[in-house]
Amino acid sequence: MQNFEQLRDIIEREIEKMDFAGRRPGELYLPVAYCMSNGGKRIRPVLTLMACRLFSDDLSPAIKPALAIEVFHNFTLLHDDIMDKAEMRRNRPTVHKKWNENTAILAGDAMAIISFDLISSADPGILPELLAVFNRTALEICEGQQLDMNFETMPRVSEPMYLEMIRLKTSVLIATAIKTGAIAGGASEKDASLLYDSGLNLGLAFQLQDDLLDLYGDQEKFGKKPGGDILMKKKTFLLVKAMEMADKETAGKIEYLMEKEQDPEIKVHEMKNIFDRLDLQTITGRKASEYFDAAIEKLNCAVGGSPARIELAGFISKIMKRKS
Ligand code: IPE
Ligand code: IPE
Ligand code: MG
Ligand code: MG
Ligand code: MG
Repeated sequence: MQNFEQLRDIIEREIEKMDFAGRRPGELYLPVAYCMSNGGKRIRPVLTLMACRLFSDDLSPAIKPALAIEVFHNFTLLHDDIMDKAEMRRNRPTVHKKWNENTAILAGDAMAIISFDLISSADPGILPELLAVFNRTALEICEGQQLDMNFETMPRVSEPMYLEMIRLKTSVLIATAIKTGAIAGGASEKDASLLYDSGLNLGLAFQLQDDLLDLYGDQEKFGKKPGGDILMKKKTFLLVKAMEMADKETAGKIEYLMEKEQDPEIKVHEMKNIFDRLDLQTITGRKASEYFDAAIEKLNCAVGGSPARIELAGFISKIMKRKS
């Protein structure tokens, strides 16, 4: 049975075969090639292949759907980086920085269409089921991204509001990656749905980690500029919890800092000091672990081959320890 590196290699080869760099006009496709080329972790398509393998030894029906999900994911990153004014991703300049915003918008549009084309090429027997979950998810991600932006101008966001926002912007795609693989492998509706729930929990844990790494990650490994969320007034788990836990004086200081025009490095540093005092690194890490445990628990409720299940659980544990 292939390990996760081998499954990732299958995906890399399939992406190379799509030859984005060779398509014309280059002004449209070179940014697509740049975005799709090596550097991403390929977590979602690997999850699709691993979920398929729970039910079948034949991975071929899962390949195109897995690619559809990875291309869609990369499309969301292109547009997300414009919305978040992010300058670095995967240790390289973002597409809108390397080229310009119009280029990044259009390259993203092309990628969305390519992803729909890929999912449409799935086996007709499973296509209606795949399309239903894919389209719903695509729209939910837009909803999540809109909430994420709405929250930037809201002084306070509750934990349930935050969790719903990250369910939409991040978890549903991870859940869909797993469910898609299960459907391609011939899982029953009940198992596919249990695996979707496992993916939702994994996705929540994944975004909590992302919030944590945005401030506490090693820039070289994480590949994004640290503190971006603070500068964009993002309602991350760290900030939501800080506002919930802080005394009146500290809450006032946080609100003041968020609005204050000042040197970005100093702002990030001061905010980090407050988060450190509230021990938010530990609290966020613990919350992420709870969701990881729930993901494994749901996975174990679904039927499916045991070596493949052990491999998938191992992959989830690997994600749990991620630094990038
Ligand atoms: C980044 O996803 C966006 C989030 C949902 C946090 P990944 O961390 O999976 O991005 P790549 O594809 O590996 O760069
Ligand atoms: C990720 O949210 C959600 C989507 C890209 C849809 P973030 O904005 O936190 O992702 P990063 O940190 O830029 O990768
Ligand atoms: Mg972002
Ligand atoms: Mg964002
Ligand atoms: Mg982030």
